[in-house]
Amino acid sequence: MKRPVLAANWKMNNGPTAARAFMETFLGGYAPRTDRTVIIFPPAVSLSTVSSAAAGRTDVVAGVQNIHWAEKGAFTGEISAPMAKDAGARVVLVGHSERRHVFGETDAQCAKKCVAASRAGLAFMLCVGETIAQREAGETERVVTHQLREGVSQTSNLISADFLLAYEPVWAIGTGLTASAGDASAIHTLLRTQLRQMIGTRGDEIPILYGGSVNADNAASLLRAPEVEGLLVGGASVEPSSWLAIAQTR
Ligand code: PGA
Repeated sequence: MKRPVLAANWKMNNGPTAARAFMETFLGGYAPRTDRTVIIFPPAVSLSTVSSAAAGRTDVVAGVQNIHWAEKGAFTGEISAPMAKDAGARVVLVGHSERRHVFGETDAQCAKKCVAASRAGLAFMLCVGETIAQREAGETERVVTHQLREGVSQTSNLISADFLLAYEPVWAIGTGLTASAGDASAIHTLLRTQLRQMIGTRGDEIPILYGGSVNADNAASLLRAPEVEGLLVGGASVEPSSWLAIAQTR
């Protein structure tokens, strides 16, 4: 995937009607680019709408915010990786902090989801990040390293085409607090070192995105920070005008 990667996580916003209107406005203003990749993670009900709108564009792809690790079965309310793929997803978001902290998702479940995504031929974006209490206790490095190693512990053959990593400090998500470019860079550098230890020089090819209160005003300085190779954006990605500005960040 061409770096930088600009990813929009709509969370529980933009149903099919709003998603259609969003894509029309966004794609109307976003001419095809070969120097970056845009990923839109809509709610599952809007996946087909987003992927159909982006059909024919190789620089804009759809992703799914969550999957179950089983392929099918008696799991009311869940969707599987093959189903998400069928609806047009190319990427699966795994272990977003809201999944971990609001819905109690564990590292072991994240690991199974990464495997399920790979099996279905989807890329996955694993999210890692520390809470404010962990940060204040000096545990950031331990926490993000653990989440990374555990998250991909069941996935063999980690390759850059299939794996993206997102550092999202929990205290920065939806709070208006952003890690400074220097802070983000320091954690990204640590994650890069881990990736190199895990898979050698191939670790250099894995995009590491930053997320947490990114907006059109701070996107450029974050993207300039060493080892920050993309942005994962929640609140500021829900409206097309704000997302357009972020997706076009220089
Ligand atoms: P935010 O969310 O940009 O609203 O802080 C980011 C995310 O949760 O991915």
